[in-house]
Amino acid sequence: MKKLLISGASGFLGWNICQEAKGNWEVHGTAFSNPVKVRGANIVRIDLTDFKAFKKVFNDIKPDAVIQTAALTSPNYCQEHPDEAEKMNVDAAVNLAGLCADRNIPFVFTSTDLVFDGFNAPYREDSPVCPVNIYGEQKVRAEEGILKTYPSAAVCRLPLMFGEPTTVASGFFLSMINALKEGDELHLFVDEFRTPVSGQTAARGLMLAVENARGLIHLGGKERISRFNFGLLMMDVLNVSEARLVRCSQKDLKMSAPRAPDLSLDSSRAFALGYKPMPLREQLIDCLKGWL
Ligand SMILES: NC(=O)c1ccc[n+]([C@@H]2O[C@H](COP(=O)([O-])OP(=O)(O)OC[C@H]3O[C@@H](n4cnc5c(N)ncnc54)[C@H](OP(=O)(O)O)[C@@H]3O)[C@@H](O)[C@H]2O)c1
Repeated sequence: MKKLLISGASGFLGWNICQEAKGNWEVHGTAFSNPVKVRGANIVRIDLTDFKAFKKVFNDIKPDAVIQTAALTSPNYCQEHPDEAEKMNVDAAVNLAGLCADRNIPFVFTSTDLVFDGFNAPYREDSPVCPVNIYGEQKVRAEEGILKTYPSAAVCRLPLMFGEPTTVASGFFLSMINALKEGDELHLFVDEFRTPVSGQTAARGLMLAVENARGLIHLGGKERISRFNFGLLMMDVLNVSEARLVRCSQKDLKMSAPRAPDLSLDSSRAFALGYKPMPLREQLIDCLKGWL
């Protein structure tokens, strides 16, 4: 079997890609602070900002393809720690692209809808980038550096993702499930829109990109939805009529990183390549089956 290296296998998306790839690939993954074990994958603990150490790991594994998901992913943290975040989100990502260019193997980078400002959605691959926070700026620098270093790389812009909370990462989704189940107040934006997909759907899109894509590609879902309506849909799927959803606006919440209002992606290019996100309700039912 060919070898797939997934950086950030201890994270939400990396874990989902490991699940999707095993069986067809010999899966190697990296972890950093989280001493995780992922069934079916060989996990190496490494700081990806230590290029020398990573180069050794890379040369030992000799991957046939790489998906780069490792990143500092909290926009608020990046806003407050820009230098630390730059090392991982930009420098390490571009260095990894360089190693793949040297071996001429597929390299897939995970970028974000946050490269846009949210005022001209839906965004296509050729829409001008205009990030509103440091995390988004870093992703733009990484995209540009990667495509300059390795023009055959695939740069996949991902939307908001939700998914089966794993042992390694849970994200916003688990806290939403718990609040809905416990009947706690859940404040959700009525004025923030995304085109979300499940981690599994995104992982399938990224595997498709390994085989077929180069350049920029959007992996959004087919439905545009506000955070508040996403909460309503979850209530419906979980069948919890007692939940206490509270409408709020972006301006009600002060955060370090500015937020964008509508980051919906136009993902027609990926759909034409065979990327097929299921209706949001079906993806949610699939992810929430353990809670139903
Ligand atoms: N989640 C979303 O909704 C979303 C939306 C759009 C784009 N994305 C992009 O998708 C990718 C994956 O996101 P995610 O939600 O899966 O992130 P995540 O759960 O926060 O995982 C981040 C991963 O990066 C690793 N990492 C962080 N610093 C590292 C370092 N110095 N050296 C090595 N590994 C390091 C972490 O390792 P440890 O945990 O072991 O420390 C973890 O495996 C990112 O590129 C993100 O920008 C995510």
